[in-house]
Amino acid sequence: MTQIGGVQSWCLRVTLPLILAVVLHQSFATVAPPTTVQTTTAPHKDPERPERGIYKVTSSNGTTCLLAYMGLQLNISISSVPQNKTVQDVVNIKPNQTTTSGSCEADTASLLLLIDAGKTNLTFVFSLNSTSNKYYLSEVSLTIALPDMKEPVSFRNRSLDYLRGTLGYSYMCREEQTLSVAPGLSINTFQVQLQPFGVTGDQFGAAEECQLDEDDMLIPIIVGAALAGLVLVVLLAYLIGRKRSHAGYQTI
Ligand SMILES: *[C@@H]1O[C@H](CO)[C@@H](O)[C@H](O)[C@H]1NC(C)=O
Ligand SMILES: *[C@@H]1O[C@H](CO)[C@@H](O)[C@H](O)[C@H]1NC(C)=O
Ligand SMILES: *[C@@H]1O[C@H](CO)[C@@H](O)[C@H](O)[C@H]1NC(C)=O
Ligand SMILES: *[C@@H]1O[C@H](CO)[C@@H](O)[C@H](O)[C@H]1NC(C)=O
Ligand SMILES: *[C@@H]1O[C@H](CO)[C@@H](O)[C@H](O)[C@H]1NC(C)=O
Ligand SMILES: *[C@@H]1O[C@H](CO)[C@@H](O)[C@H](O)[C@H]1NC(C)=O
Ligand SMILES: *[C@@H]1O[C@H](CO)[C@@H](O)[C@H](O)[C@H]1NC(C)=O
Repeated sequence: MTQIGGVQSWCLRVTLPLILAVVLHQSFATVAPPTTVQTTTAPHKDPERPERGIYKVTSSNGTTCLLAYMGLQLNISISSVPQNKTVQDVVNIKPNQTTTSGSCEADTASLLLLIDAGKTNLTFVFSLNSTSNKYYLSEVSLTIALPDMKEPVSFRNRSLDYLRGTLGYSYMCREEQTLSVAPGLSINTFQVQLQPFGVTGDQFGAAEECQLDEDDMLIPIIVGAALAGLVLVVLLAYLIGRKRSHAGYQTI
């Protein structure tokens, strides 16, 4: 009886720390807020994923006032009545063929991307609501020369509400997002981290993760919690078992 108890508690003494270590490792790995975005090479629909660009806007005194790291893909579909055809184009923005400019004011900030030597102009305007201290993407405009079209085509929407973040924090979304801008134009974004206001020292503020990413992290958190519950049960069983064997010793 005491022999079996000894073997049992020896087993538990060895396995318990092991399980604990695994669970702790698991939960730290999933719960800890990642500060850097790792590149995943998930397979994607026909056009490959756009490269992630690093875009910066500096204010007049030379300090960075807007920071945006993101991959951008334009999805354009237009019907041209005079040419009697529908043009469907998916265009990846190539960061190394892009010139960045823009401006920063108290409650608006803009990011201007000149792509392919001005053949494509893409502008993002961010607004800050100073009552709620939230910023958001409020306007997108695009002028693009498509090979299938004689004239450059333009899109603009000034009443958007995307990429919402809190002043002092950066907005982060690793998952692909589709921002529909206007009939015929949507923008797919990849691995976004941006901050249009309150950038200090050329660095992002703490990241606020988007809903898509949080949903993605929910499953590992649930698994971690279940494992922690299991450990608790094992721990209780161990403590009860130890108490019993102590009682056993006393009767001898
Ligand atoms: C630069 O200008 C911004 C506002 O445009 C201000 O917040 C910041 O403190 C200035 N930095 C320096 C070093 O003057
Ligand atoms: C582009 O948009 C069309 C709908 O307008 C959609 O069917 C298609 O899947 C989109 N393509 C990409 C790569 O997002
Ligand atoms: C437009 O093209 C379709 C087929 O692509 C054709 O049936 C139609 O007659 C054309 N309309 C005009 C106005 O050219
Ligand atoms: C841009 O980058 C692509 C691949 O990342 C490379 O093939 C191309 O040569 C680069 N172009 C320039 C102008 O640097
Ligand atoms: C893009 O902007 C530049 C500078 O503002 C301008 O010269 C160019 O014509 C624009 N291109 C298009 C396609 O609108
Ligand atoms: C700013 O936020 C406040 C509070 O959330 C809201 O009532 C107000 O309509 C917002 N203003 C604008 C211009 O969006
Ligand atoms: C601008 O975007 C909003 C939100 O997606 C949409 O409701 C609105 O119809 C768009 N306006 C134009 C002119 O495309």
